[in-house]
Amino acid sequence: MNSPHDRTPEPSPVEWRADGAPHSRLFDDVYFSAAGGLAEARAVFLAGCGLPRAWIGRDRFTIGELGFGSGLNIVALLDLWRRYRPAGARLQIFSVEAHLMSAVDARRALAPWTEVGEAVEGLLARWPRAARGFQRIDLPEFAGQLDLAVMDVADALAAWDGAADAWFLDGFSPARNPAMWSERVLRAVAAHSAPGARAATFSVAGPVRRGLAAAGFSVAKAPGFGKKRERLEARLPAATRFTPPRRPRVAIVGAGIAGAALARAFRALGVGAQVFDPDGAGAGASGNPAALVMPRLDAGGGAVAALFAQALGRAGELYADIPGAILAGGALQLETGAKDQSRFDRIAASDLFAPGALVRLDATKASRALGEPTKRGGLAMTDAQVVRPGPILAAWLGGDVPQTERVAGLIQEDGVWRLLGPEDRELARAEIICLAAGLACRDLEPSAPLAAVRGQVSWLSSPERPTAAIGGGYLVPTGDGMLFGATHDRDDEVAGEREADTVRNLALLADLRPQLAARLAGAPALARASLRAVTPDFLPLAGALPRPGLFILSGLGSRGFCAAPLLAEHVAARALGAASPLPLDLAAIVDPQRFEIRRRRRSGDSRNFAQKPVTP
Ligand SMILES: Cc1cc2nc3c(=O)[nH]c(=O)nc-3n(C[C@H](O)[C@H](O)[C@H](O)COP(=O)(O)OP(=O)(O)OC[C@H]3O[C@@H](n4cnc5c(N)ncnc54)[C@H](O)[C@@H]3O)c2cc1C
Ligand SMILES: C[S@@+](CC[C@H](N)C(=O)[O-])C[C@H]1O[C@@H](n2cnc3c(N)ncnc32)[C@H](O)[C@@H]1O
Repeated sequence: MNSPHDRTPEPSPVEWRADGAPHSRLFDDVYFSAAGGLAEARAVFLAGCGLPRAWIGRDRFTIGELGFGSGLNIVALLDLWRRYRPAGARLQIFSVEAHLMSAVDARRALAPWTEVGEAVEGLLARWPRAARGFQRIDLPEFAGQLDLAVMDVADALAAWDGAADAWFLDGFSPARNPAMWSERVLRAVAAHSAPGARAATFSVAGPVRRGLAAAGFSVAKAPGFGKKRERLEARLPAATRFTPPRRPRVAIVGAGIAGAALARAFRALGVGAQVFDPDGAGAGASGNPAALVMPRLDAGGGAVAALFAQALGRAGELYADIPGAILAGGALQLETGAKDQSRFDRIAASDLFAPGALVRLDATKASRALGEPTKRGGLAMTDAQVVRPGPILAAWLGGDVPQTERVAGLIQEDGVWRLLGPEDRELARAEIICLAAGLACRDLEPSAPLAAVRGQVSWLSSPERPTAAIGGGYLVPTGDGMLFGATHDRDDEVAGEREADTVRNLALLADLRPQLAARLAGAPALARASLRAVTPDFLPLAGALPRPGLFILSGLGSRGFCAAPLLAEHVAARALGAASPLPLDLAAIVDPQRFEIRRRRRSGDSRNFAQKPVTP
């Protein structure tokens, strides 16, 4: 029996008609034409947007869709892209869905389209979670990536920072689903379009034509599909000047989880990077034998909670693909004070996590999960993971093995950065630099408001493999025993392990698992100390710095293994002018310039000094 506070799944938005086609319970309309959904997707949306011709000469193409539904349009798109994509080109897809189908319903809806079975299976294998927010889904066998916004269309468009080259406008019929076709939505579509973008839809209703025209599209009717006489093709004016695509040189300073995640994220966008770290991969805070991947648990469903919920989902998927990376799945968060009872109730009920991802436990169930009696209740986090940093860093740095050089200075000349080593020796030149050197980022960018929180972990060999648990301190299984701790010492930057800190960690273990600690008494523990980098608001720095071409991913505090993979994709997207997987409100809370923006706002200076994304 679940707790009354756990989130329950929404009822299915689909009902099934006698002809086997999915029908919307909420809008009383069909998801696709009974005359043949796949053929309709091809005729209305693919041909309507001039695909595949429009792909010629492109190394990245962005499709936007309103109404993800069963994913059939996306399946048809992936199938076409696989056959016609220009060599080396990447497909970015942004789609919006407020009432997500279950994977079971989607499988049933897509079952008839066996001729595109590979694309159907590719999408179903990564069917999105029923959690509010943005989710990034990799489609590597299609050289593609899908960002799905699970929310109302107006919120989704307001939160997206991308610009589509083509739009599939596929709400239910305007009479039944006016919210998908409002003037405000169509204006937002135009605002999120690249010059010359195309839009296609099955509807020729007056408000749709007028709305698109008012938003700046030239609109034309074309012969319709099935029983529909006509459909619409729309186009924005083309850019007056064509900017040829270019592949910038990218340098990453630091080879911890931030640097490795950045190298992966740039590679996923088709751009290689040079990585620099004098001490090799994992020399800093990212080099412990195990790391717990869990979100910051903020009650209230605000931006911080949304950021970490999205980050956890992304990290979990990416780590699961790396051989040898996962040590254990799931973790138990114990209450640490009276306030945690109602706080955990609210967090468990949050729609930012899929039903079943967070399960509220009373003390009896928490004791069972923990492996020994506790009087505290808890929260079972089924999507948390314990990972081995080593294989993750190795997999993501890949061919971009760090060059063992310390970056001592950065100089920009004529739009190109020069990376300087000791004695001003030039190490490299790059158009884009990403600082991912933990606390040391402040040596290269003095405006970065970073402070140190020294931490020491302890670990020991043991045949016991405890459940990952947090409550005061934390305890996680390793390959051959367990790791626990950790100390938190603000503004202490002294290197090296301390015996006194091992004693503190043993006390944390005894508080969390007294029986286990008693069994292990006297066992020799190993230790490792390093520095966390934190910001004044304890949120990361991820994005552009005021100097053009300079970006940062740091300030990851105690949650680097949760936050870095998603934030690295955000930084890489901003650097390359691609669509970010982060909604704008979440991008704002990690904006490296937020402290300066707030300071200026307080002092009445409203100048917009944010760095614009680099156009590829
Ligand atoms: C004791 C402890 C336990 C932790 N446990 C967890 C956990 O369980 N889960 C979790 O998510 N997080 C945990 N954290 C936090 C996590 O380790 C950090 O958030 C994360 O490692 C930060 O990664 P990073 O890549 O930003 O920095 P780092 O891993 O510190 O990497 C920075 C890299 O930059 C390099 N560098 C520095 N200066 C230069 C330069 N001038 N030129 C080139 N390279 C340079 C360094 O050599 C280093 O390799 C823990 C932290 C500590 C201290
Ligand atoms: C015609 S169906 C889309 C069919 C889909 N393209 C496919 O290939 O199966 C329209 C979709 O729009 C979604 N929708 C309707 N109103 C919405 C809104 N206000 N915000 C976001 N999505 C909405 C519906 O839930 C439905 O899945």
